[in-house]
Amino acid sequence: MNRILITSAIPYINGIKHLGNLVGSQLPSDLYARYMRLRGHEVMFICATDEHGTPAELAASKANKPVEEYCQEMYEIQKNLAKEFRLSFDYFGRSSSKRNHVLTQHFAGQLDKNGFISEVDEEQIYSFTDKRFLPDRYVQGICPNCGYENARGDQCENCTKQLDPTDLLEPRSAISGSTDLEVRKTKHLYLRQSLFRKQLEQWIDSKKDWPILTTSIAKKWLFDDEGLQDRGITRDLDWGIPVRKGAEPWPGMEEKVFYVWFDAPIEYIAATAEWADANGKSDTDWERWWRLDKGATDVRYIQFMGKDNVPFHTLSFPVTIMGSGEPWKLVDNIKSFNYLNYDGGQFSTSLGRGIFMDQALEILPSDYWRWWLLSHVPEYSDSEFTWDNFCEGVNTDLANVLGNFVSRVTKFCSSHFGNKVPENHGWTDLERKYTSLIEQNLVSYQEFMDDIEIRKASQSLRKIWTLGNEYIQEAAPWGIVKTDKSRAATILNYSLNLIRLFGNISSPFIPDASVSLLGIFNSEDRPVWPDNVNSALNSLHVNQEFQVPEIIFKKISKEDSERWKLKFAGKD
Ligand code: 2FM
Ligand code: ZN
Repeated sequence: MNRILITSAIPYINGIKHLGNLVGSQLPSDLYARYMRLRGHEVMFICATDEHGTPAELAASKANKPVEEYCQEMYEIQKNLAKEFRLSFDYFGRSSSKRNHVLTQHFAGQLDKNGFISEVDEEQIYSFTDKRFLPDRYVQGICPNCGYENARGDQCENCTKQLDPTDLLEPRSAISGSTDLEVRKTKHLYLRQSLFRKQLEQWIDSKKDWPILTTSIAKKWLFDDEGLQDRGITRDLDWGIPVRKGAEPWPGMEEKVFYVWFDAPIEYIAATAEWADANGKSDTDWERWWRLDKGATDVRYIQFMGKDNVPFHTLSFPVTIMGSGEPWKLVDNIKSFNYLNYDGGQFSTSLGRGIFMDQALEILPSDYWRWWLLSHVPEYSDSEFTWDNFCEGVNTDLANVLGNFVSRVTKFCSSHFGNKVPENHGWTDLERKYTSLIEQNLVSYQEFMDDIEIRKASQSLRKIWTLGNEYIQEAAPWGIVKTDKSRAATILNYSLNLIRLFGNISSPFIPDASVSLLGIFNSEDRPVWPDNVNSALNSLHVNQEFQVPEIIFKKISKEDSERWKLKFAGKD
């Protein structure tokens, strides 16, 4: 048994997330966490809301609410949606927590003590119309790197380049749209990342198993342009974590807060401490996940995130950890994702284009979305949601292949043998053949899951479901039952065992359906991973009662999909 620490990038608090956000970190991390728990490992799975910075302030002012109140409300909403999507976080924290304040200030103090913070007279954009400084996303303009017109002051969404507001061409205020701006001097703290170039390079080079997407982005920002730049980690905002050196004030910084990207990844640690607090546990209970001097040497730590988050997790956050001079756990593997597009364009929060988490659940249960999204996760390139593609995936894989097998087998068995598992009178070569095929595919499924090759894992799982259908087709109990009842009993015994196996191994992808499949035999059954396919397919007791389930997955009709397509097309 290993100990596995898993974090999902923490979603901004500024509204309900769309399916593109969901599939870019929370959902695949959940898949992995569920799988690792099933394989018997001790898992700590952490997420939180990212509550500071301009995204939070802008959204709160748009909603006409004090930012604290806005964050509290939106936290509850996001937490609830996560639950409805069956995201199995051990803890869903808040980056505005007391724990994160203390830890963030602690890290800043350590970095300063070790000489990795400099005070810099910085040029900041001041807006006469808004009568305030405009940090980060408060400024929009043209990206100097790729020419994208709506780049934000912190990062260009289009080319992922990290930016400063003063880098933008033709800048304008995101609050008022005003271009009546001037550049003013004010003092800020900088993280001296550039001193870590060699150390980061060696560290990244030592990670032979990182996905290419992660390594290529990391290297790009390590070497491109002028190389790794020092980054401002403070902002002129009211909302955020006040700048302090540990518990001490920071002279000259009284009015400032830390930059959201400085405190957000620290929340991974803080949320684990929040987990301990919420569960009546002690500091040693969370420290054993994070402190090498408190037992974390045997933890394997994997982060999940969209590609735009990679620079912060391969460069800035590791510098925070390394520069602290304290024995904190560094990440072991970073699984990053490309973007999911929506029906010929991008998901857009502002245009209401695409499907958002709450809307998705209004029209279909979470397993439909989980299966389609995970089997189309943008692992090696951007991928696209289209309604045709979605219906095809759901109707074929879930309704025709899995659902249909289950209902055929249970109904047929019920009408010929009653609702009791019939006896196995001895496998023939046919059962032996399918057992070995299933075994082979289960081994691939496990290997892909261990390597976090999500699409390939979904293909192996789908293949196993398909083998169920092929088996029953080939075994053809429909005629045999009239001539050889004991052979038919064996076929149905085997098929019912297959259903149970499917219930056990499908649960990381479709946890609710898995509960229904196992519930066919016993409502108390929890998924367990089969050690051995042979015995798993012999595990139901003869005469054990079973129920014929309600439809497990219903097909999506052409009318529904046409209606939804219009509904989610957005304002343009
Ligand atoms: O891109 C985002 O949605 C950010 N809120 C992710 C932050 S991840 C981390 F560093 F905590
Ligand atoms: Zn750009």
